[in-house]
Amino acid sequence: MHRISKSSLIAVTRALPTSPRWRYRWVLAGLNLLIASGGAAQAADSPRTVAQLSADQEPITPIPYPPAADPQKLALGERLFGDRRLSRDDARACSSCHDTRTNGADGNRRDLALDGSELPFNTNTIFNAALSFRFSWEGSFRTLEAQAEAAIENPRIMGTKIDDVLRRLSADPEMAHRFDEAYGRGPDRASLLDAIATYEQSLLTPGSRFDRWLGGDAAALSAEEQDGYRLFKTLGCVSCHQGVNVGGNLFERHGIFHPLASPSPEILRVPSLRNVAATPPYFHDGDASTLEEAVRRMSKTQLNQTLSDEQTEAIVAFLKTLTGAYRGHPVTGRSP
Ligand code: HEC
Ligand code: HEC
Repeated sequence: MHRISKSSLIAVTRALPTSPRWRYRWVLAGLNLLIASGGAAQAADSPRTVAQLSADQEPITPIPYPPAADPQKLALGERLFGDRRLSRDDARACSSCHDTRTNGADGNRRDLALDGSELPFNTNTIFNAALSFRFSWEGSFRTLEAQAEAAIENPRIMGTKIDDVLRRLSADPEMAHRFDEAYGRGPDRASLLDAIATYEQSLLTPGSRFDRWLGGDAAALSAEEQDGYRLFKTLGCVSCHQGVNVGGNLFERHGIFHPLASPSPEILRVPSLRNVAATPPYFHDGDASTLEEAVRRMSKTQLNQTLSDEQTEAIVAFLKTLTGAYRGHPVTGRSP
């Protein structure tokens, strides 16, 4: 656990606006900065104020390159992600809804359950999902393995049982062999879920223009895009959308000042805004069809601010710089 000195927290708190709500948010943001800096020990030694923090730290950090992984586990995970035997009657694969050739999701407002009814939530992109602190819109899962297990056994998503999947994979000599090579044993629950999670951890999209700018390439962003980023910080978007995924590290209410989308569930994991220009439609129910609309509605409902056209355009321009690349190919949108 990171140690953060009491005096540095007090320094952070004192330097802030006095409304408790804002103080709370800024302390959170401050904590996040201290943690993101990886410099807990440094922070404990030499307390830094918010002003000092913001001079050399941004509240958003670049997407890293994927972690080193065992190539056999990785290749097996990729195969499994595209394998229909993970579903009832070979109906679909994980990749049927999470298309890694485009945006890691699809373009639908909401995908269909196996029985043809509409799912309650818009499909999250699988890109950079591994960098969020919890998984799914409500943040119900703490590990990718638990999420994958639930997706396979969810009657509306894959509609099967892990044991049935294992039986089918074990009966395929090529698959049994691949598991044996990667894990030294045939398919079992742990190796199945580990292979999928290993693959998901590789689905990162570094190299966005914004990350290049963070890395010191001043020419990577236009003046308008930088204005948009400044607005994103000064308006307070960054109090919820921050860290490596520009979201994905807090639970928050939506519709704080005005209703946003369908009111339930009330509390959501703040979604990541990485690659957001490529992942319409927006919100947990897919209710906003364009990024511009999502930005205007966010500002109104979460911050009680009505944005001018110019402000909206600048923020959208900034958000478009968050698009990265997967295996060297820029993430692109997908039509429904
Ligand atoms: C029918 C479309 C569909 C299929 C097939 C599907 N998913 Fe998903 N996926 C979704 C939806 C919808 C959500 C959001 C669910 C929620 O929030 O409750 C989601 C969310 C996720 C997330 C969370 C992402 C985040 O940002 O938190 C992961 C990880 C994931 N799926 C992995 C998988 C895996 C692994 C499989 C295959 C075993 C799979 N999905 C199959 C639709 C699908
Ligand atoms: C109080 C926390 C909070 C603040 C402040 C906030 N957001 Fe959000 N944001 C959320 C939550 C929670 C959601 C998910 C809402 C939903 O799906 O119903 C969200 C969703 C979004 C989405 C849609 C993402 C997607 O994939 O569907 C965008 C775009 C967005 N926010 C941009 C912004 C911008 C721009 C600002 C500032 C004008 C802002 N947000 C301020 C919490 C916040």
